[in-house]
Amino acid sequence: MGRVALVTGGSRGIGAAISVALKDAGHKVAASYAGNDEAAAKFTAETGIKTYKWDVADYEASKAGIAQVEADLGPVEIVVANAGITKDAPFHKMTPEQWKAVIDTNLTGVFNTIHPVWPGMRERKFGRVVVISSVNGQKGQFAQVNYAATKAGDLGIVKSLAQEGARAGITANAVCPGYIGTDMVMAVPEKVRESIIAQIPAGRLGEPEEIARCVAFLVADDAGFINGSTISANGAQFFV
Ligand code: CAA
Repeated sequence: MGRVALVTGGSRGIGAAISVALKDAGHKVAASYAGNDEAAAKFTAETGIKTYKWDVADYEASKAGIAQVEADLGPVEIVVANAGITKDAPFHKMTPEQWKAVIDTNLTGVFNTIHPVWPGMRERKFGRVVVISSVNGQKGQFAQVNYAATKAGDLGIVKSLAQEGARAGITANAVCPGYIGTDMVMAVPEKVRESIIAQIPAGRLGEPEEIARCVAFLVADDAGFINGSTISANGAQFFV
């Protein structure tokens, strides 16, 4: 059955693959993005998926953006909180600005994305929430105190939401991607990236579609008993 789905950061990287996978599964998809107008226009032209611009770090902007999505497509039944940034630096060099930017987008942004759609999901007795965390939220990462804190926080969010939503037909789950071949990972210096790939038993970066596959599984109507869980897709880099 086709549902209305919102994917934040849904026009590039892992988010774009998720948007396409959900469309292919028969859902009506809206993809939000923060700044890259050119990439968003290209994505819409290629996929037919409508894009919406707002900053997930801004609660009022998120509320207004989601209201527009709901006016266009109907009430959001599936929400995928995917938007995220990195501001990597060893802790002794990390600035309060780098800390705050990552917390605001990656953690508060998840609150801002789910909070506006939660009451409607409760009323309608159906909802699917997926938060895109990271292997680095599970294991920590050199130069990512800020990012790892947000991605570990995502796991606390879904475990708590799962308990609150269970009786209202809402599930909340996390996906923890490992290192995937996106702009974010390609921004890591090449030598460092090579040393990371050497630590991945699969011997390669993952594909965005391999993460989208996990999300499509979790948001299906018949996935209602999978709640508060974490799917890791990291090429055997790390086991919880
Ligand atoms: N473990 C231990 N030591 C490390 C290290 C590691 N993983 N990485 C770097 N170091 C060491 C360096 O060798 C260097 O040591 P020396 O001074 O003895 O030579 C020191 O730490 C740091 O060096 P710099 O002061 O030059 O560091 P910098 O300020 O230039 O920062 C960096 C460089 C930002 C840490 C860069 O190496 C980097 O980007 N590293 C990758 C971090 C990473 O994995 N980010 C993940 C991005 S992808 C993502 O986040 C998606 C996802 O969910 C998986």
